[in-house]
Order: sequence, then structure tokens, then C-alpha cells
Amino acid sequence: MLAQEVNERLTQVGPGTPMGTLLRRYWFPVAATSELEEHPTKGVRLLGEDLVLYKDRSGTYGLVDWACAHRRLNLLYGIPEENGLRCPYHGWLYDETGQCLEQPAEPPDSTFKERVQLKSYPVTQLGGLLFAYLGPQPAPLVPHWEPMVREHTARDVGWAVVPCNWLQIMENSLDPTHTEWLHRYFSHYAIERLGKGKDDPSFWRNAPPVVPHVKIGFDVFDYGIVKRRVLQGDTEDHPNWKYGHPIVFPNMLHDRGGNGFQIRVPMDDTHTLYLWYQCHDTDPSEPPQRDEEVPTYTVPLPGVDLQGRPIWSLLDHNAGQDNMAWMSQGPVSQRWLEKLGESDRGLIIYRRLLDQQINVAEDGGDPMNVFRDPATNVSIALPSEGMAEDKSWQAGLQRANGVSTGSTGKYSVINREAAQRKGVLVAEKPESAPIPAMAGTHLVR
Ligand code: FES
Ligand SMILES: [Fe+2]
Repeated sequence: MLAQEVNERLTQVGPGTPMGTLLRRYWFPVAATSELEEHPTKGVRLLGEDLVLYKDRSGTYGLVDWACAHRRLNLLYGIPEENGLRCPYHGWLYDETGQCLEQPAEPPDSTFKERVQLKSYPVTQLGGLLFAYLGPQPAPLVPHWEPMVREHTARDVGWAVVPCNWLQIMENSLDPTHTEWLHRYFSHYAIERLGKGKDDPSFWRNAPPVVPHVKIGFDVFDYGIVKRRVLQGDTEDHPNWKYGHPIVFPNMLHDRGGNGFQIRVPMDDTHTLYLWYQCHDTDPSEPPQRDEEVPTYTVPLPGVDLQGRPIWSLLDHNAGQDNMAWMSQGPVSQRWLEKLGESDRGLIIYRRLLDQQINVAEDGGDPMNVFRDPATNVSIALPSEGMAEDKSWQAGLQRANGVSTGSTGKYSVINREAAQRKGVLVAEKPESAPIPAMAGTHLVR
């Protein structure tokens, strides 16, 4: 249980809030590089601020206040120029610092434009993602986590705007036993509701058995928290315990096996941009994928149909199951009503770490994972089960034909292409539910 004030301290992300102060010390991905190739502007909500990301015709990225300083037209409709973004209403032109460069309808000798500047923030590109930094200067380095600088890999990025606070999403990553229930036992029930057998070939993934956890453990390490588990029948020599599975502070889950991240970007107190960032092995003889080519795909959100019944085809895979859990806790989980047990100690450790790091940031120090020395930011390796030499334990994560069935395997562009090449049935991609899985949706008519 958490007092209501503490819940607010950990969940509110706007300017001037304790958590907002901590989170403003980090770079956050706000788009895939390829998105701005397809369209040169994108509306961005980040840490409670509304902004417009753009790429001008000389290739410079900018992130500026959404509203033109003149009469507040939304710059999402802005026209990229050789240098800067032009408001379509009366032609005011801004550069990436937000400085107004031109005001065509003002007298030619006017110096008015020199006194007009939009709020702006720095943008940087890494590993197929565009990162923004809303914090105090000097900005730290964008962390070079190993999957973001890996060579001979093809990346893709799934995304969804999950209508709930970021913290309940992160807490799920410190909760090993939910996999046994939500991703196994409930998964079997979802297959039953779909009227399929567990080994029905038309089902995207095989149904792994429900194996009880016999032991869980957590260690705070340099970059976050490692969670460990021993499943029934295994020992502490199993990679699940020996290497564990890291949560990268403050907002990422390393993918099982170490091939990417699930990144939770707090948009505001009740919305989270969720990125499934994945590296897929490629043949070294293939030309390398360019960052501008990294494909994106949307991940449909679970919910109920117009009769108020769960849509089970959106719940037969990890991403849908997790999204349902987070969204159905409500926009901001009411933690003062919780009853935490011994199995919840991972999230208690994480909440404590957040609280400590808020204090560090509020005192002007650099919190965990703020990097300033390029020498220590070349390629930051993380411990994970994927380090184990014997990979046979991973077989349960995949179908025998080698197609990934991980959290968004059903939707991933590269995974679907691989499945098609191998002749695996690729299910139609469903739309998001008409009524999202928010707490109380059963009352909606
Ligand atoms: S509102 Fe943007 S130029 Fe007038
Ligand atoms: Fe999960």
C-alpha cells in the first residue's frame, strides 16, 4: 500500500513535479527515424508538454512548442523549409532553437522577429530512433545501450499509445510471477475462448506449459535492477537465475534474450508511448539496414466489444495480455488500495529506487544512467539470460521453425516477413478494440 501523496509523487510527470524533475534528466525516444522520412512533422506529447517534432529540408531535426507564437496555429501543419519550419497561417519561420527567422507580413525593417522564440528542445538520432531531452543543460549523452549500436542486425519498432500511467507498466517488469499466470494460465484460457486447441496450427504460438515459480530474487546493479527466477524443475544454474533479466532504470525492460527493449515513454500522467524495439539477426552479407529504413508497426490495444465482452484475439499474446493488465488497472493505479505480498518485493525495490533517484535529481546530482563520458558510452552491455552459451532453454520461446513468438511477434514487420518465408501461417492483424480495456469498461454501453 502506498499513501495517496506518495502515489502522486511517483506518477505525476509534468514540469515541476518530483518525478517530472527526475525524468527530465533522461533522453526519451519520441519517433522512429523512418517516421519523419514518411512525414516531416509529428505531434509529440512528452512529460506533459505538447510539442512538434520536424525535419527540415536540410535534414536538421527540431522539437518546438506546438503553437505558433503569432496566433497559436498548430505547427503540426508546418511546412519544412531548407532551414526551419514555417507556420502555414502567416508564414512565420522558426529554426530548431525556436528562434523566429522570418515574419513576412511585418515591415521589412522590423526587429520584432528577434524577440520571438518558441520553446525548443534538443533532438538526437540513434539506432533508428529520434530522442528528445527536456531537462537542464548541459544535456547528458544519449546512452549507447548495446542493441541500439549493434551491427549486422535489422531493427523494427512496434508502438502503441497505452492509455495509462507509465509506472504501472514498469512495475509489471519487476513482477516475475505474472508471467506464470497472465502469459501462461490466462493465455491458455484465451485459446480456449477462441475455441482452439493448444496445439492448433492456426494459432500463432504454441501454448507453453504453466510452470510454477519456486524462487524469485532482485538485485540493484549499475544500470537498474536484475530480476531472477527459478522455475519448478530448474536450479540456480539456469540462466533465468544465473544471469537474470534486467530492467534498465528508469523506463526500459531488456528483451528476454537481450535483443532489444520495451521502452515506456511517459507522455503525461495517463498516457504512455510504448515502443517494442527489436533487433533481428541478419546475414552479414546483406547490405546493412539504414536507420531511415527501420520499419514501424502499430500494436493493437485490447478491450471489449460493443457487448462489453473481451475481444480474445487481442489477448492471445504477451503484448495484448500485458496491455490489458496495465490499462484495466485504470488511468493511474490507486496504489493506496493495494494489498502487496511477499511476491511483490520487486516493485517495492523499484519504487524505493525511484524515490532515492528523485532526491538525487532534486539535489542537482546526476541520477542513475545519466552518462557524460563518451569513453564509457561506446556500447553498454547489459547482463541477460541471452549471455548463456547453452541456448537450448530458449527453445520454449519460439516455435520449432524458429519464428519468434515473443511479445509482439504476431505483429512485427520483420517477424511476419520471416514467418511468411518459412511458410508459417500469418494471422490477419486485428484492429484495436472499439472500447479500450480501461477499468470499468464493462459499464460502458
Ligand atoms: S499563426 Fe503562425 S504565422 Fe500567424
Ligand atoms: Fe508481461
